Amino acid sequence: MAKCFVPLLPILLTILLLAFAVTESKAYSTTTPFEGHKPDKLTHLHFYFHDVITGDKPTAIRVAAPPGTNSSTVSFGVVMIADDPLTEGPDPSSKEVGRAQGMYTSTDMKILSFTMVFNLVFTEGEFNGSTVAMYGRNPIMSKVREMPIIGGTGAFRFARGYAQARTYKLVGLNAVVEYNVFIWH
Ligand SMILES: *[C@@H]1O[C@H](CO)[C@@H](O)[C@H](O)[C@H]1NC(C)=O
Ligand SMILES: *[C@@H]1O[C@H](CO)[C@@H](O)[C@H](O)[C@H]1NC(C)=O
Repeated sequence: MAKCFVPLLPILLTILLLAFAVTESKAYSTTTPFEGHKPDKLTHLHFYFHDVITGDKPTAIRVAAPPGTNSSTVSFGVVMIADDPLTEGPDPSSKEVGRAQGMYTSTDMKILSFTMVFNLVFTEGEFNGSTVAMYGRNPIMSKVREMPIIGGTGAFRFARGYAQARTYKLVGLNAVVEYNVFIWH
């Protein structure tokens, strides 16, 4: 009879070890009733975005481009990385309220249009330290461009919304763009 238990021992040990492994690791998922933050406010932000490509202190730099980009009228494929200031007024020396950190790439073969992938990082007032993620299409020759706000952090957790961009001024390649951002959070 005793002989029958011997082959079972390793199996029993394995089961015991597995049981420990399961109880000691944290749950892969936990779902609870959603009683925390629910979006219930709408915040409207108004600021100017300064995309400075040329001059002494550029805030947007070209990091990649496919061969032939310079001869493409829409710079198709060019990749720019930016840490652009956001200010209260159109003057670049007006009070800075945040930064637009991310990248934009030329992704339309026919017209000048960018895919924008940005974190808007706020550094002033009640939203200091909070961010929103903006991702969308920016056909820069259009009067008004609309891009989705797809999320946020800090005061903007669970954010959804949209941004409207209007070119205020263009000096060479450097643009001042007026932004109205509506955030539900
Ligand atoms: C294309 O233009 C950029 C920026 O003006 C320059 O740095 C680069 O050398 C040019 N590339 C070619 C292949 O001419
Ligand atoms: C924003 O927050 C940072 C980090 O907490 C702090 O150092 C800075 O002084 C704050 N800025 C303003 C304008 O309140």
